[in-house]
Amino acid sequence: MSATRTIITVVSALGCLLCSCDTTVVDDGWWPSSHYAIPAVPFPEDNLSTPERVALGRALFHDVRLSADASTSCASCHQESSAFASTTVMNAGAFGRPGKANVPSITYAAFEPRLLRGNTVPTLEMQVLVPIQEQHEFAENILAVVRKLSTDTTYQAMSRRAYGRDLDPWVLTRAISAFERTLPRFSSVFDSVTVYAKPQRLTESQKRGWTVFEGRGQCTSCHSGVLLTNHELIKVGNSGRFLDEHGMEQLDSIRVPSLRNVALTYPYMHDGSVSTLIDVLKGYQHHQHPHIVAEERFESVVLTDHDVADLLQFLSLLTDAH
Ligand code: HEC
Ligand code: HEC
Repeated sequence: MSATRTIITVVSALGCLLCSCDTTVVDDGWWPSSHYAIPAVPFPEDNLSTPERVALGRALFHDVRLSADASTSCASCHQESSAFASTTVMNAGAFGRPGKANVPSITYAAFEPRLLRGNTVPTLEMQVLVPIQEQHEFAENILAVVRKLSTDTTYQAMSRRAYGRDLDPWVLTRAISAFERTLPRFSSVFDSVTVYAKPQRLTESQKRGWTVFEGRGQCTSCHSGVLLTNHELIKVGNSGRFLDEHGMEQLDSIRVPSLRNVALTYPYMHDGSVSTLIDVLKGYQHHQHPHIVAEERFESVVLTDHDVADLLQFLSLLTDAH
């Protein structure tokens, strides 16, 4: 038994003596090779978290007045029931204008060193400006948004309590980001095992899937670490439907997405082109995904039908409990 393993066993045994465990501890000799510490959410110095800031951000995140025609809020696309992604292939924004990309989960976006799939935006605060001005999202102007919301006395009072000043673009972008930084949960079975060192009753298929994921499946060469992404940009060539004819820079590389809550974030890929998780895995089995066809790391990977079924079971362990 390795030293780490011994410590983990002792810690989990102690944990059970001190509190009533809701899961049966089974130490049947199987253990994944990875153990992680929970990363601290990074906060900029001028936007430390307070309950008042988060409350204001939560209200703004759900407010349709951010959009030009009062039809759309951040939450219209980033829906809590889908881990702050959306089950639609591409969501429409203001005036029903069709979306240009699949809505990603933002539950763990606070940990991305750069935002958006092309890694183009450096901070959460700056990212808030993107949907406000995009013609197919809010089709608005931040100054116009602030003018509309400033007549709301509740918002003004909340803004003064949270930031000691009237509602303005600085407050709006900071409050929404403060709310986004409260979303990470780290409450999945994967976390119970790898972070909290609480052995869980896993099925044989989940264990096999975990072994393939970390081992010969090469998944962790990209979906690595506690966030299940190395944040790397991967070449996808000309990605067709993505942002093309709309005057925006066309991306030829896509950041490796986190797989946290992936069972909830269908449909998949930047363009929502793959409906189910099993089809994503079959795409890997048959080396069909544009982002892996030219990848040396993936060249020699062979996945059987059993591996695909086991990987599906493993991925279900990544869903947060609450
Ligand atoms: C009309 C749908 C829509 C609305 C409304 C919308 N978003 Fe998004 N959001 C998207 C899409 C699509 C992307 C992915 C763009 C890309 O592929 O780079 C995205 C990306 C993001 C990201 C980056 C995630 C990452 O991992 O890099 C964050 C953060 C985010 N949105 C927050 C917000 C906030 C905050 C609001 C409200 C101010 C908002 N969004 C409104 C559709 C929407
Ligand atoms: C070379 C890096 C790389 C490797 C290796 C890799 N992936 Fe991915 N994965 C990506 C990228 C990049 C995307 C996003 C592609 C897109 O949006 O078009 C992705 C997307 C996914 C998605 C869909 C996520 C979503 O929210 O749309 C799943 C599920 C997934 N990968 C699982 C796996 C599994 C399982 C393995 C191992 C068999 C694996 N990946 C190996 C880079 C990789």
